[in-house]
Amino acid sequence: MIRKAVVPAAGFGTRFLPASKSQPKEMLPIVDTPTIQYVVEEAVASGIRDILMIIGRGKRAIEEHFDRNFELEEELREKGKTEELRLLRRISELANIHFVWQKELRGLGDAVSCARDHVGHEPFAVLLGDTVMESTRPVTRQLMELYESRRESVVALEEVERSRVGRYGVIKGEPLTDALWKITGFVEKPTVEEAPSNLAIAGRYVFPPDIFDCLARTGTGKNNEIQLTDAMRLLISMQPMCGLRFEGERYDIGNKLDFIKTNVAFALRRPDMASELKDYMRTLLASETGRS
Ligand code: G1P
Repeated sequence: MIRKAVVPAAGFGTRFLPASKSQPKEMLPIVDTPTIQYVVEEAVASGIRDILMIIGRGKRAIEEHFDRNFELEEELREKGKTEELRLLRRISELANIHFVWQKELRGLGDAVSCARDHVGHEPFAVLLGDTVMESTRPVTRQLMELYESRRESVVALEEVERSRVGRYGVIKGEPLTDALWKITGFVEKPTVEEAPSNLAIAGRYVFPPDIFDCLARTGTGKNNEIQLTDAMRLLISMQPMCGLRFEGERYDIGNKLDFIKTNVAFALRRPDMASELKDYMRTLLASETGRS
């Protein structure tokens, strides 16, 4: 049974400067909700109640977001803002959220290894804090079910345009079915020529605890960082791992353009703003076309 999730959220967010200079990129809102809250909600909807966040310098706002704010609650209560109060209370009641500090930012692999003591000898899920998934069946749940039935690591895969492989970890593999792949290799952020496929690691994983031994044996790799994919390469030399082309949509919040697209897509689904936003976009696009 998978009971624990690890959410790495310690990175500098250099792709999001200057916004991420003094606030965590994971706290940037999609409409009115911080990205990381969607990630926690996905873990909770998948049946996980124990969540460990790996945070680093400048990430205190994440801790505060999931903590209770009694003064604000009192203020809302006094003003009779019951809906806002309900929303606020819900955040701190979502799950048991724990925090651990990654003291030196040495890469995603190093961040995940900070979870070792908390996770112990259990399989666990990893959800990257800057990726939001939308699906009828939570993506982490899809991976967990596969882990339970196959008893091997599972990683979410997404087909990306060849020109974009350099943004991701890319797998080498053999299809078992249309959606399921046996993984035989990894390349982190390959050039188009180096990429063994266009199937990218999409920021959701389920691992057995053995990944921690692999991480401990992994030195610095691409970009002088301890890469999770390097530890995964070591893991597949000892045990099988599969990849799932999940059902659902991935939104990458780690870069500016995709962040804006995500905000527009989510806002267009909100009944309280969709119609006005559509009118605004039509007018805006018409004037842009007139200008070009
Ligand atoms: C990380 C991983 C990469 C994965 C990506 C998904 O890269 O190293 O393998 O494909 O997340 O978002 P990062 O985005 O931290 O550079």
